[in-house]
Amino acid sequence: MQARIPAGLDRKEIEAYKHLDPARLPRHIAIIMDGNGRWARRRHMPRVAGHRAGVTAVRSTVETAARIGLPALTLYAFSEENWKKRPKAEVNFLMGLLGRYLKAEVPTLNKNNIRLEYIGRQHELPDDVQERMEWARESTASNTGMILTLALNYSARSEIVDALRSLVNAASRNGGLEHLRIDEDTVASHLYTADLPDPDLVIRTSGEMRLSNFLLWQLAYAEIYVTGTLWPDFRGLHLLEGVAEYQKRERRYGGLNHPEEKPESAHMSEILSNKSAVRRAKAARN
Ligand code: FPP
Repeated sequence: MQARIPAGLDRKEIEAYKHLDPARLPRHIAIIMDGNGRWARRRHMPRVAGHRAGVTAVRSTVETAARIGLPALTLYAFSEENWKKRPKAEVNFLMGLLGRYLKAEVPTLNKNNIRLEYIGRQHELPDDVQERMEWARESTASNTGMILTLALNYSARSEIVDALRSLVNAASRNGGLEHLRIDEDTVASHLYTADLPDPDLVIRTSGEMRLSNFLLWQLAYAEIYVTGTLWPDFRGLHLLEGVAEYQKRERRYGGLNHPEEKPESAHMSEILSNKSAVRRAKAARN
């Protein structure tokens, strides 16, 4: 039976969607948006023109993700390193762009039933940006569809440091450090992403093969899809191509997908024991 095509997809997206299995969508996709600077340079434009064009890509990707019923999408908008190491003028431009994006996009987020969240050291951002972020979060808080998380001033190592600090603080509030228990579940429950499933798929644009300090804990078992497309050229259609690639992969989480197949070592011991049986038979004959 032909799967129901979600409303709002364009012609090319419909064609791509028909090749997907809607029952095996990733629960969470994380995207490292990269290549804005190169996109601008190729057009002899200033870097910030690439960031501006990147907003169109964000809009298209977010809408398509929500339309196909993806439960969660996380976008690496800028890292702690971007925030601390890029020229002030570029950082200011990105702050302004973020503020304008949030103001303009809230109605569309609400129309698509999208709830907005953030990860990163939000308290280090300018006060007016924090206020706008809080306003946008509250304006979408009652939506029940896709969770869109923007990683802003984000660093995975800082996140793990913050999680460990929060763990220790929680233990000292709850009866002292002798009650401190550290295991994978408790660490995960203190990460910024405590309420999200780990991403099944991470997409990186512009061809670079790095994780760049993004969700290092949460991406432990994620499938990685790198596309040469520069972020400003990325659209919902490219997201669907990433999902198609994900659906072709076999995920094993360190185990075996076909346990009925004997592991290599079992084959090996069988071969060796056959060999010694042959040797024993030959020796008996002689
Ligand atoms: C990486 O490209 C991109 C960024 C550091 C900023 C990402 C921002 C946007 C996509 C627009 C704003 C986003 C929102 C959510 C409003 P780069 O500058 O590192 O590119 P390069 O590697 O080619 O130099």
